[in-house]
Amino acid sequence: MKKIENAKKDFPLLCKSDVVYLDSGATTQKPTCVLKDIEAYYEKENANPYRGAYALSVRATEVYNNARQTVSEFINAKESCEIVFTKNATESLNLLAYSYGLDNLKKDEEIVISIMEHHSNLVPWQKVSRLTGAKLKYLYTNENFEIEDSEIEEKITTKTKLVSITSVSNVTGTVNDLKKIIKRAHEVGAKVIVDASQSVAHERTDVQDLDTDFLVFSAHKMYGPLGIGVLYGKKELLEKMSPFIMGGDMIEYVYEQETTFAELPHKFEAGTQNVGGAVGLASAIKYLESFGMENIEKYEQDLLSYARAELEKLPFLTLYSPKNSPISSVLSFNINNVHPHDVSSLLDMQKVCLRSGNHCAQPLMRYLGIDSTCRISFGIYNTKEDVDRLVVALKNVYEKFEKYIKEK
Ligand code: ALA
Repeated sequence: MKKIENAKKDFPLLCKSDVVYLDSGATTQKPTCVLKDIEAYYEKENANPYRGAYALSVRATEVYNNARQTVSEFINAKESCEIVFTKNATESLNLLAYSYGLDNLKKDEEIVISIMEHHSNLVPWQKVSRLTGAKLKYLYTNENFEIEDSEIEEKITTKTKLVSITSVSNVTGTVNDLKKIIKRAHEVGAKVIVDASQSVAHERTDVQDLDTDFLVFSAHKMYGPLGIGVLYGKKELLEKMSPFIMGGDMIEYVYEQETTFAELPHKFEAGTQNVGGAVGLASAIKYLESFGMENIEKYEQDLLSYARAELEKLPFLTLYSPKNSPISSVLSFNINNVHPHDVSSLLDMQKVCLRSGNHCAQPLMRYLGIDSTCRISFGIYNTKEDVDRLVVALKNVYEKFEKYIKEK
């Protein structure tokens, strides 16, 4: 196993600059092996898969199928045909909204999501709700930013047909009890979608152990390239669903007035696919596995505890993060009375990169009674020294604003 402590040297962007990169929740940096594998694909193997009888096209098909197999093994799917490549988690969720939601929900049935969802796991369900007459209901969090068991039991009822829930909040870092939610949903006959975007690079994902019906994530948040994502679905469910995007290669026979569709997973992959992206995703998975997901989780949890303890020492900070409960890779906070965008700009001048804003989670912000937060999110290249530099930089920002805050 490779040592995580040395991971930073694998990332050219980080080696060539002295920025402290604390925005892996938005997108991770890319290691040399991923960049090289993508380059090698385009240099040696590029052709349009499934479309040519010549050797290069056959090779591109093999490469694409191998990438699918790598993803399938990574999340422990039963079969690789349960893996559909998309553009990103957002497209996977839209596919589910259109192909599953619109066809399976009826007036007065219920879709349950949580108040901590990213807009991409919220806005599509508003549309499904408007078009089908199904109700959109929310699981709300308590003062410790967690969904309580009673909330799960009260909101997920026999009226519920679909539950779509994030594994980890991209704002508070709250780790949802997926097994509990999935068990409850299945007891009442509902299907479950897990948005694993914020957890897939930080802990092992096992779709069979979870028994989730669907699961989505993006490659770019797990050291892979932009522009490729994954939809996992149980085969029997995907088989019954109609395609979302129509076009080349997702068909069996096309007549003037009607069409029959290809087998899984091809009926969901219309048009020329992002093979270079799939190669990069498979390479990123191999890179993650070279450390071991369990070791990554342990390393990042240790870093997170350190960061939390250091930030708690700053009296001018408010943290939006569960206390004494599991969190993952993300910490949100505000310097009291200073706008997060100002904090972020002044941190940037000290070469510390973090995200400020509503983090595509406006309903959560409204629910918490705030407009926005500063958010740090970790990757395997981060170290305790990065946290120390953040803390010094935050103290500098506060010193600049202290006079004005006290005058307020
Ligand atoms: N969804 C990404 C984030 O939370 C962009 O930062």
